Amino acid sequence: MLSASARPYIDASVPVLREHSLDITKVFYANMLGAHPELKNLFNMGNQASGVQQQSLASALFAYAANIANPAALAPVVTRIVHKHAAVGLTAAHYPIVAEHLLGAIKQVLGDAASDDLLSAWGEAIGCWPTC
Ligand code: HEM
Repeated sequence: MLSASARPYIDASVPVLREHSLDITKVFYANMLGAHPELKNLFNMGNQASGVQQQSLASALFAYAANIANPAALAPVVTRIVHKHAAVGLTAAHYPIVAEHLLGAIKQVLGDAASDDLLSAWGEAIGCWPTC
């Protein structure tokens, strides 16, 4: 469950993500796959090259923030993502890597607008996704 203190930061992210989510996910994948080339085996690199994966994650982040008060609206997309993750064989060890690079990408793209409180709210959200 996302904490009450984190929630306003996720709410406040909606307009920011509307504008910047694709920039964030482009930076995220470039940095993560640069630091962890072994993860390229998991990804369809055609979808990376075409930008499909960056767009898909950007849409998922926006949908999560925009529907934080309405989890039922997220259920179909979460189910699809969980099936995809299960199919590619994700493990718990992958999550800290994704969290580090996603938070790093938010900071890199938003600069000073990414306050410590905003980053810690997203850290919490990534840590408990998809059950919060
Ligand atoms: C905050 C948690 C995460 C979110 C919101 C998320 C979101 C997504 C989305 C939206 C997709 C596309 C699903 C579709 O095809 O419809 C996806 C696929 C995928 N995700 Fe995640 N993901 C998360 C965590 C992770 C982690 C920890 C990894 C491990 C490296 C990972 C690796 C993958 C892979 C390999 C695919 C398939 C990509 C492909 O087909 O090339 N994800 N994820």
